[in-house]
Amino acid sequence: MKEILDAILSPDSTPADFAALKLPESYRAVTLHKDEEQMFAGLDSRDKDPRKSLHLDEVPLPELGPGEALVAVMASAVNYNTVWSSIFEPVSTFGFLERYGKLSPLTKRHDLPHHIVGSDLAGVVLRTGAGVNAWKPGDEVVAHCLSVELESPDGHNDTMMDPEQRIWGFETNFGGLAQLALVKTNQLLPKPKHLTWEEAASPGLVNSTAYRQLVSRNGAGMKQGDNVLIWGASGGLGSYATQYALAGGATPICVVSSEQKAEICRAMGAEAIIDRSAEGYRFWKDEHTQDPREWKRFGSRIREFTGGEDVDIVFEHPGRETFGASVYVTRKGGTIVTCASTSGYMHQYDNRYLWMSLKRIVGSHFANYREAFEANRLIAKGKIHPTVSKVYPMEQTGQAALDVHHNKHQGKVGVLCLAPQEGLGVRNEEFRAKHIDAINRFRNI
Ligand SMILES: NC(=O)c1ccc[n+]([C@@H]2O[C@H](COP(=O)([O-])OP(=O)(O)OC[C@H]3O[C@@H](n4cnc5c(N)ncnc54)[C@H](OP(=O)(O)O)[C@@H]3O)[C@@H](O)[C@H]2O)c1
Repeated sequence: MKEILDAILSPDSTPADFAALKLPESYRAVTLHKDEEQMFAGLDSRDKDPRKSLHLDEVPLPELGPGEALVAVMASAVNYNTVWSSIFEPVSTFGFLERYGKLSPLTKRHDLPHHIVGSDLAGVVLRTGAGVNAWKPGDEVVAHCLSVELESPDGHNDTMMDPEQRIWGFETNFGGLAQLALVKTNQLLPKPKHLTWEEAASPGLVNSTAYRQLVSRNGAGMKQGDNVLIWGASGGLGSYATQYALAGGATPICVVSSEQKAEICRAMGAEAIIDRSAEGYRFWKDEHTQDPREWKRFGSRIREFTGGEDVDIVFEHPGRETFGASVYVTRKGGTIVTCASTSGYMHQYDNRYLWMSLKRIVGSHFANYREAFEANRLIAKGKIHPTVSKVYPMEQTGQAALDVHHNKHQGKVGVLCLAPQEGLGVRNEEFRAKHIDAINRFRNI
């Protein structure tokens, strides 16, 4: 592993040097263990501690298949899917691996007693498999997390529609929280040159998701002047949604739960900010009953910011707790676009407000390769910026996941894999200098 790291750190390394590097037989990776699937049985979600379930193991190097790349991972990031995996909710991810393993001898490699998690990476290509022409050893890359087989016609208009669509490092093995990772080469994107490894690794999953959900015509198709209600506006997804709204000429109405998070939204340029904790919204009177008066109070608050207008788009992901309010506050003909249900997936809303006001609920999930490319391109052009607030070494991934699980973080939490320290990997200092304040926005608060 030392030779690999030395090659990456040396400014003189050539593609031939990378191609000639000897591959190790094993590497260090953050794993879950199949025989621990039941370790949290009976506990409340909040009490399930990722520090207990996430291990740092030495794992064998998988065989490289056609169309794949082996990547040396300099840095990765924690996504909420790693929280779900680590608490084995709503289901254990080993079920995904077993099902994937049944597809072919190649996918069988993924069905192991350990699951290497992680759906983001920034690093360097070490080897490519048969049939790969677009990428070569030595390429500095980030990887998006869409894994598709594309053997069915269904995925050929929009790869998210592939019946064998999976999220790499969540529904497949050999993820990014490791020293090495195995990806399909149609997951690779050029690493933005002005960013460090940990900054480049952090937008991937959430940035691409927010791009499809809010901007793409496959999602809400946001346009200039739209009022966009963004839940969790300083969180993983929300910190990108807020930037997209601002960059696209829309008005974000940011919902957060503390003054510190409100400050981050202001630093991004948002003006309309609702602190849901300070204003004490209780959309549910009890476990079974919502309170429409609270929806109304929330809607009135939004109108104070918009000069009486309702929102064109709600960027939804908290799910059960907020969905009734989200449907209510959307304007006639507007769109509620949802990609998740953090607080519960059995939603309840008053359908009269949906059909009588001709609103639409749109489901959105990750992004296709083109959408992920466009989202990464905007990062590379300095139009959208990473939102890293804190970085942990790989040994402390459990703590990093706990921070996200308990909503103690801002933006994104990074993880150093092979990178010995933060701050490495910048190839365009001049361009970085132009955007340095925006890049550090989440660190400085
Ligand atoms: N389908 C996809 O492709 C996809 C992609 C990415 C993420 N996701 C899912 O989307 C969800 C959010 O991911 P993320 O990365 O943005 O997570 P995150 O970094 O934890 O941010 C989510 C934010 O939502 C807010 N929130 C949480 N619970 C809430 C509640 N009950 N009511 C109102 N607001 C609440 C919190 O902000 P405040 O406390 O400041 O309000 C939190 O910071 C997760 O469930 C994740 O699995 C899905």
